[in-house]
Amino acid sequence: MRERDNIEHLPVLVKEVLEGLNCQPGGLYVDATLGGGGHSLEILKCSSPNGKLIGIDWDEEAIRVAGSRLKGFQHRLTIVHDNFKNLHNILMDLGVDAVDGILLDLGVSSMQLGDRNRGFSFKLEGPIDMRMDRSSMVKAFDLVNILPVRELEQILWKYGEERFAKRIVRSIDDHRKKFPITTTRQLADIIRTAMPHKHHPKKIDPATKTFQAIRIAVNDELINLETVISGSIDLIKKDGRFCIISFHSLEDRIVKQSFRLNEGRCTCPSDMPQCSCLKEHKIKILTKKPITPSENEKRKNPKSRTAKLRVAERL
Ligand SMILES: C[S@@+](CC[C@H](N)C(=O)[O-])C[C@H]1O[C@@H](n2cnc3c(N)ncnc32)[C@H](O)[C@@H]1O
Repeated sequence: MRERDNIEHLPVLVKEVLEGLNCQPGGLYVDATLGGGGHSLEILKCSSPNGKLIGIDWDEEAIRVAGSRLKGFQHRLTIVHDNFKNLHNILMDLGVDAVDGILLDLGVSSMQLGDRNRGFSFKLEGPIDMRMDRSSMVKAFDLVNILPVRELEQILWKYGEERFAKRIVRSIDDHRKKFPITTTRQLADIIRTAMPHKHHPKKIDPATKTFQAIRIAVNDELINLETVISGSIDLIKKDGRFCIISFHSLEDRIVKQSFRLNEGRCTCPSDMPQCSCLKEHKIKILTKKPITPSENEKRKNPKSRTAKLRVAERL
């Protein structure tokens, strides 16, 4: 059996992202989720000959893959290995005050999902790890085997919206009392058996929501997202753009609400830059409804199915 399936990550909504960023020659952009470098490559091309890109990822493997893929652009590209929640400090360290556009393409890459040793997928046998940043201390193994029942239930409920959270965690607890749960397959089987067969979802594997929930918790994904949005809007130049692609409703809700908050919607009679409520109008939301992939893209890249792109412009 192959240790690892070498899967290339196909970037989603590429044309829409370039339009959303209003990508121009000479612009300075941040791809805060570098991954396999797919979006970065297109941004570098469309901002040529003198545009610049700062690419960030907290996964060393992504840095390596993207670095090699983008080596022809070294003179216009800076790659940073860090958590995007530190974007403000990253830019300060690089001596950059403001940029023309920021892209976040959330979630895991196909490279991460397809590597059995990373333990993200219930389809591949591997250790339950799920850390995108391999230097971080907490693995999925720790949450599954050590976390008190009540806290684990909360994670499944909050981050997976899993209605069978209680049953699943009870079954996990029964198993872990006998032996540690170490592999993705073991965990997936426990979940599938815990869920009454007649309630098994038709379109997704019964383990999908639990795996998503544990991954979100291991990587602090929603907190990182809230932090980066609130901390990054001031880093965008006037008329610059913020593009965020999300893949599930929890992420999309945060993006939508954070954009609205910074749009400074108010109930004051006049929507002037400074209303009597003193709300600041930092951005204009350009996508009243999120942009979703075409049927053609969904067919070619089924992983794009749930993608939603929201775009805001800095005022
Ligand atoms: C969906 S992939 C991006 C794929 C990329 N747009 C491409 O075209 O290849 C998401 C990437 O974001 C990274 N990531 C997720 N959360 C992060 C965070 N808080 N800080 C830095 N990188 C993060 C993941 O490690 C992963 O490589």
